[in-house]
Amino acid sequence: MAEVIIESKQLDLFYGYFQALKKINLQFETNQIAALIGPSGCGKSTFLRCLNRMNDLVDGVKIDGEVLYEKQDIYAPNTNLVELRKQIGMVFQQPNPFPFSVYDNVAFGLRLAGVKDKKLLDEKVEKSLRQAAVWEEVKDKLHTNALSFSGGQQQRICIARVLAVSPKIILLDEPTSALDPISSAKIEETLINLKKEYTIIMVTHNLAQASRISDKTVFFMDGQVVEAAATKKMFLNPEKTATADYLAGKFG
Ligand SMILES: Nc1ncnc2c1ncn2[C@@H]1O[C@H](COP(=O)(O)OP(=O)(O)O)[C@@H](O)[C@H]1O
Ligand SMILES: [Mg+2]
Repeated sequence: MAEVIIESKQLDLFYGYFQALKKINLQFETNQIAALIGPSGCGKSTFLRCLNRMNDLVDGVKIDGEVLYEKQDIYAPNTNLVELRKQIGMVFQQPNPFPFSVYDNVAFGLRLAGVKDKKLLDEKVEKSLRQAAVWEEVKDKLHTNALSFSGGQQQRICIARVLAVSPKIILLDEPTSALDPISSAKIEETLINLKKEYTIIMVTHNLAQASRISDKTVFFMDGQVVEAAATKKMFLNPEKTATADYLAGKFG
């Protein structure tokens, strides 16, 4: 039985006077892929960023309600943000490796945490790159600048960088929308393999992608959750007219 690892309760978010999230109540289970879908500007990225407190970096943001990660409120004042972001990693739309070698990218978080043992670093770097399904492509070029690889390879290197610090949850914001179809397929395959060990929450504007790889889909509109359900159920038999219309491509 899958257990809830992270949930939001009555979550509101304001950018100044503008309310971008309205009373969001959602639960996410371990070893599942959840897809967040909905029209542009509906609050998907905002919600995703709430889950590891990335919105704290934005000026004028006010948040009410709770986000419970392993039953602890991450907005409690004593939360260790460095530790939180290690456990809940984030991958962005544009691959953003640091401008140094593949090895140093993946080892970055571990070194930051004080790991110096070369053998341990080597092992972790290899394991993470294997999990991110990019090892075979980079193993002979570990000391080459990560920026010299293709976009798809860079994105998998970024996934490896997140995996290296042993997260429990991986957040991804449209991770394939800047990539070609072949690279996107590789990332999808990678995510399906990763859910055996991790919990994955992904924003995607690609409905086919959501239906292919996610277990659960959440449909957002105007800062609200219209419907959240098992992916098969939502795509075959949505409860709300708005969901049906969106899935049918009636609005963008
Ligand atoms: N830093 C910000 N400051 C002010 N408004 C923002 C900021 N980021 C997003 N918004 C607004 O919040 C709403 C939701 O944005 P976002 O979460 O990026 O939507 P989505 O990811 O679904 O496209 C939009 O109206 C957007 O313009
Ligand atoms: Mg977005």
